[in-house]
Amino acid sequence: MTQDELKKAVARAALAYLVDGEIVGVGTGSTANCFIDELARIQHRIRGAVASSEASRQRLEGHGIPVFDLDKVDAIPVYVDGADEINAALQMIKGGGGALTREKIVAAVATKFVCIADGSKLVAVLGQFPLPVEVIPMALGHVRRQLAAIGGTPTLREGFVTDNGNLIVDVKGLAIVDATALEARINQIVGVVSNGLFAQRPADVCLLATANGVQTLTAN
Ligand code: 5RP
Repeated sequence: MTQDELKKAVARAALAYLVDGEIVGVGTGSTANCFIDELARIQHRIRGAVASSEASRQRLEGHGIPVFDLDKVDAIPVYVDGADEINAALQMIKGGGGALTREKIVAAVATKFVCIADGSKLVAVLGQFPLPVEVIPMALGHVRRQLAAIGGTPTLREGFVTDNGNLIVDVKGLAIVDATALEARINQIVGVVSNGLFAQRPADVCLLATANGVQTLTAN
């Protein structure tokens, strides 16, 4: 199976988690795009969607799916999104597409977070994938120095501006032993908007596409 076929398979499997007549939270990235395309086929079943990025909003609207602003919505029973890395506790690194802050906000509102990923995203220890950090532009120098002080090697994502008008720094070389503690520590750096560790709020379910079919992982 190609990577594309694996992404389509998990995207299809995620439809089983939708709550009929309700709003679904929608993530960002190539796997989330496959999910949006699957949603288009069953859109009569849902009231609409909340998008975690402008790109996902446009793709949803392109399919005629109503997109609601988050502050107009009381509840999101299910949020479906991809990941750059996920471990057995269903903690993730996200933000490869730069949408981490909005993804984190929608995930915080959602009752259930369903992560959809191909098998290559499952890792024993998080951190091979550089950790994305969203930074207020004027704080860039300060944040880079602070990230270096905790052992990381930060690189500015050149030519990229987030949907919130901020910058992304990708951090290599962090020893992510305690993901929850590191998530909190980086968030405390003044000028950081959020970071791509999803440890305080991990996924509830991971649908993992493998050559042998879609596996369902829950936290252990
Ligand atoms: C975007 C994300 C994506 O979920 C993550 O980068 C995975 O993307 P893809 O499905 O394209 O591999 O966090 O900010």
